[in-house]
Amino acid sequence: MSDLNQTPAWAALEQHQRAVAPLHLRDLFARDPGRFERFTLQAGPLFLDYSKNRVTDETLTLLLALANEAQLSAWIERLFRGERVNGTERRAALHTALRHRGDAPVLLDGRDVMPDVRRVLEQMRKFSESVRSGDWRGYTGQPITDVVNIGIGGSDLGPAMVVSALDADCGPLRLHFVSNVDGADLSRTLRTLSPEQTLFVIASKTFTTQETLLNAHSARDWFLAQAGDPVHVARHFVAVSTQRDEVVRFGIDPAHMFEFWDWVGGRYSLWSAIGLPIALAVGMDRFDALLAGAHDMDEHFRRSPLARNMPVLMGLLGVWYINFFGAQTQAILPYDQGMHRFVSHIQQVVMESSGKSVTREGRPVPCATGSVVWGGPGTNGQHAYFQLLHQGTPLVPADFLAPIESRTPLGEHHRVLLSNFLAQPEALMRGKTAAEVRHELERTGLKGDDLERLVPHRCFSGNRPSNSLLFQKLDARTLGALIALYEHKTFVQSVLWNINAFDQWGVELGKQLARDLLSELSDAPGRAPHDASTSGLLAYVRSRLSGH
Ligand code: F6P
Repeated sequence: MSDLNQTPAWAALEQHQRAVAPLHLRDLFARDPGRFERFTLQAGPLFLDYSKNRVTDETLTLLLALANEAQLSAWIERLFRGERVNGTERRAALHTALRHRGDAPVLLDGRDVMPDVRRVLEQMRKFSESVRSGDWRGYTGQPITDVVNIGIGGSDLGPAMVVSALDADCGPLRLHFVSNVDGADLSRTLRTLSPEQTLFVIASKTFTTQETLLNAHSARDWFLAQAGDPVHVARHFVAVSTQRDEVVRFGIDPAHMFEFWDWVGGRYSLWSAIGLPIALAVGMDRFDALLAGAHDMDEHFRRSPLARNMPVLMGLLGVWYINFFGAQTQAILPYDQGMHRFVSHIQQVVMESSGKSVTREGRPVPCATGSVVWGGPGTNGQHAYFQLLHQGTPLVPADFLAPIESRTPLGEHHRVLLSNFLAQPEALMRGKTAAEVRHELERTGLKGDDLERLVPHRCFSGNRPSNSLLFQKLDARTLGALIALYEHKTFVQSVLWNINAFDQWGVELGKQLARDLLSELSDAPGRAPHDASTSGLLAYVRSRLSGH
């Protein structure tokens, strides 16, 4: 494929950007009463207002032309049809099959994957129901009260996020997530638990991840210190993986293994058996509703015209800011405390998928790819980093998300939350002019130099873009649609940049060096010489390691 930045569509957008850059959103709204109606879209439970973006009708036409140039529609079909869109690993990325509904087959190399998908879903249902009901007993005959998921990256972030977003506290089990190899993570979790009533879910696609295996071994030692006989491991350790042999090597009965497949990427795996902690926390019916919500979004993405397609529009708006305005970061700001882990999950989805600097063919990419995704729940951020969003120099496109209904009986809290959710995008868009600031200050009695000195500090340039995403309430189905929305948005951008969204070679070098350095910490010779800085640091650490 030829570089997109060499196409007429790209050149037209560059030229158009020069015309749009001086326009202020305030004026665009003032002169166009139909802007909100035209630049809003409902997809299932999600309502998107993208009218507060620095775009005109022409911008969208040109962005859609760019998408056509990149053959986006054909790529969407390739994704759903199980083609090997992950070229470097020669794998499909068929996470959409995991949430597929109905009887139609989903073929991978001519074979229907759905019987396997349904078999594991049934296994998850039986198991989660027996643990939740108390039928599944620990080695002393007591029911399970606590579940510890041990996994990292995609084997942690997605399930942990969904469990907290769906307010799992009301279920019969307490869920804990241990990911960090820092022993503090595991010890802090185990401190309050009883081995007799604790179930460990060891979640790892490869079952070779250093952090997960070390945490899993330490958890087993902790368990056996009380349980004694390794035969009891069977009632307290289950595994989720693609690697049966590794699971057996660890000592988990393959009958207690929940399988998934190499065509499921780690950051897209919460829909697979990696979602077992979700089913344990909120029940299999709600896990199923989560899958159904994601499937709704899959259908919208696959079937809607590009111009009325939510992931496509959000992806194109991202490209507009990253490639034509030089934006380097993107904020995601859910006004829902339960979604406090949402950003971390989407951060992995976006940054592992888009953090690439070569094209699918291995040539250097000719334009910026990806952006730093960050953020957190409102209103907390308003009292922390929003200052930079309002008056800082970088352009930070922001997504504001909020449920219309609260899940708590504290209705007044929710009205305050919603008023802030509405206020921030308006403030970012509108800003405050010097004349408005002067008028405001005069009313406080300030005048002359004292007043003028303050004016520049109290002005807001405005014209700062945002999307607003509203939904009735954060139930499982809506959450599924939201997560799938960001997955597909990420895929759209990867198609435009002609990069592979489904590999992550960038994490390997650090892992490899850490393995070498681990043995060097114990005085074994290294395989390759280090630079002076690393050697110096290694010597410093070794000389001060207690017991060395
Ligand atoms: O190191 C990155 C990564 O491979 C992620 O892509 C993945 O989600 C995570 O590690 C965990 O991998 P695994 O599930 O194989 O333990």
